[in-house]
Amino acid sequence: MRKDAGSSIPRKGSGRTFQLESVMDALAPIYPVMQKYGVTLSPKEFHRVVNLVFHKAESAVYDIVHRCMWESLPQQYELLMTDYERAGGLLKNGLVLLDVGCGTGLASELLLRNRLRRWVAEVDLLDTSPEMLQQAKRRAEMWCVKANILQGTVESLRNGTRKYDIIVICSVLHHIPDLTGFLHEIQIFNLMVEF
Ligand SMILES: C[S@@+](CC[C@H](N)C(=O)[O-])C[C@H]1O[C@@H](n2cnc3c(N)ncnc32)[C@H](O)[C@@H]1O
Repeated sequence: MRKDAGSSIPRKGSGRTFQLESVMDALAPIYPVMQKYGVTLSPKEFHRVVNLVFHKAESAVYDIVHRCMWESLPQQYELLMTDYERAGGLLKNGLVLLDVGCGTGLASELLLRNRLRRWVAEVDLLDTSPEMLQQAKRRAEMWCVKANILQGTVESLRNGTRKYDIIVICSVLHHIPDLTGFLHEIQIFNLMVEF
């Protein structure tokens, strides 16, 4: 394995920024595994690769293992919609949705079964895993909205000009070591709900 620049396992208080330290804290549980198997990648790169390998394997069984979501997620969407309407929220035609870490497209599919569906025109399906995206692509062919398949992270949307009306991030945050940076990214590139 290639040894990346800065690949050594960092120690706290070594003068790095707070943000980097919090990422390293989040990755700390994998250090013993890396040491045990002599991994020479940086912790961040190792996490990225494990993430890809894990989701490649999981893509084949994801929908079966997570079948409970077919019941739980529609209930959550319904609660959110009801809250939004009670708060006087307005809806308009042509909404564009971003599903970050879309996996097999399950969360978007269930959202499109909600009454919100009639306002949605387009869905961007974003994921780092090509195998998950393959499943999502197949699933989206059955939808009556335009679906775009995007491989990458929110950082890869940085240079785009697209704004989103709805952003779904379902069952993904536990895969993100740098949560602050991730949420910041969504904000600074103006991927905000715009009603
Ligand atoms: C547990 S699955 C959730 C799938 C889907 N959102 C759902 O609710 O069924 C997590 C997904 O997030 C993707 N993922 C992990 N880290 C990511 C990142 N940094 N950016 C985009 N997708 C990521 C994985 O490849 C995987 O498909």
